[in-house]
Amino acid sequence: MTSEFDAERRCPVVHTDYRRDRPAFTTIPQLGEERELAPAVWNDSTEHGFLMVQRYDDVMELLKQTDVLVSDNVNAFDPHMQIPLIPNSLNPPEHTKVRRVLNPFFSPAAVKRLEPLARERAESLIGALAEKKSVDLVSEFAILYPTELFLALLGLPTEDGEMVLPWVEAIFGGFFASTPEELQAAGDAVASFNEYFGKLVDERSADPGDPEIDLVSRLLVAEIDGVPMSREDILVTCMTLMTAGLDTTRSALGYIFHQLATEPDVRHRMVNEPESWPRFIEEAIRVNSLIIQDGRQVKEDMEVLGCPMKAGEMVWLGLAAANRDPRKFEDPDTFDMDREGLNHHLGFGAGVHRCIGMHLARAELVIALETWHKVIPDYRLSPGAELTERGGQLRLQTLPLEWD
Ligand code: HEM
Repeated sequence: MTSEFDAERRCPVVHTDYRRDRPAFTTIPQLGEERELAPAVWNDSTEHGFLMVQRYDDVMELLKQTDVLVSDNVNAFDPHMQIPLIPNSLNPPEHTKVRRVLNPFFSPAAVKRLEPLARERAESLIGALAEKKSVDLVSEFAILYPTELFLALLGLPTEDGEMVLPWVEAIFGGFFASTPEELQAAGDAVASFNEYFGKLVDERSADPGDPEIDLVSRLLVAEIDGVPMSREDILVTCMTLMTAGLDTTRSALGYIFHQLATEPDVRHRMVNEPESWPRFIEEAIRVNSLIIQDGRQVKEDMEVLGCPMKAGEMVWLGLAAANRDPRKFEDPDTFDMDREGLNHHLGFGAGVHRCIGMHLARAELVIALETWHKVIPDYRLSPGAELTERGGQLRLQTLPLEWD
């Protein structure tokens, strides 16, 4: 791969626009090539550009520097993004206090309580699909399952999924927007979420649930430095959790089912060895890291790996490329669920912003995969399927599967 060198930026410059959809499985190899150019590479594909750091040790180190690389904005594509996220766009010490309120809700023990519900939703959805003999895995299962679970978790009717899903899509459209229309649609979706969650907050204020198990009731009684969370912050938190939890689980399921459909040996092993699903999932999240980057904003003028950066500019901490860094992982492009240090990957991030939902995500995935393979152990990719992946935050746009 050829690239120019930018003398002022003191690093190579690349032009790849990672907001764009591309043929499936082409984004991560492209990122890998750019990782190998230099420790830091300037990307000029967006209006303001951003510095890409993609080697494992560098990404780890910079994720710790929360005093100078801040999360006020976590979108490398747009340093002026207007969509607030809680807790994502907070910094310590405020971030730590909010995480303390939310963490118990996502602890392994709390997730255990959700397992019967997850199993029930998985069995119901998969049972209904089994007879069809062919599905688009993404739209007919991978998104419905986490949406129904999340709504149930909040005590909301699962039928609301149809209404809220387009809002989630529009908000993601806004993160990776390249047109004013996409930004406007994202703003409208945030307003719709505010109204929707606003009603829920009113209901719980009038008739509180158990704050140990009801998320909104917990947010309503939570105090940060002795002060209750504002209504606005509660609404932003609900919206953030919903968008963060649904899209990621769908994406993970898409890539995982693609692998299982196209690698029958691995699938047969998993059907016969269901206790290994947690290992399988960990390696799948390393190999196909759907959150390809964590964006961080430079607080004051500084050098990042020798490159001069101005306050407000964005750094792209490349999780996906770091997870395939040969300096860290032996034979990094090979899926090997028996490798040592299986969970050393950065698929859930690292440092203070490490994914709050990772125990939930793992449990949701194990339950979906166990249930599916009990009911539908053999299946294949439908012939002629042309697969694309979304830019920004990876996901397979469709995954047509069929079985006899
Ligand atoms: C396979 C599924 C998932 C993957 C790969 C994933 C990945 C990540 C990553 C890489 C981060 C770090 C972001 C950063 O440092 O800026 C993160 C943060 C976060 N994730 Fe997940 N996630 C998944 C599932 C979930 C689920 C199910 C939830 C449910 C609520 C969730 C909620 C969040 C939240 C709220 C944050 C922000 C944490 C903070 O800023 O302190 N995630 N996730």
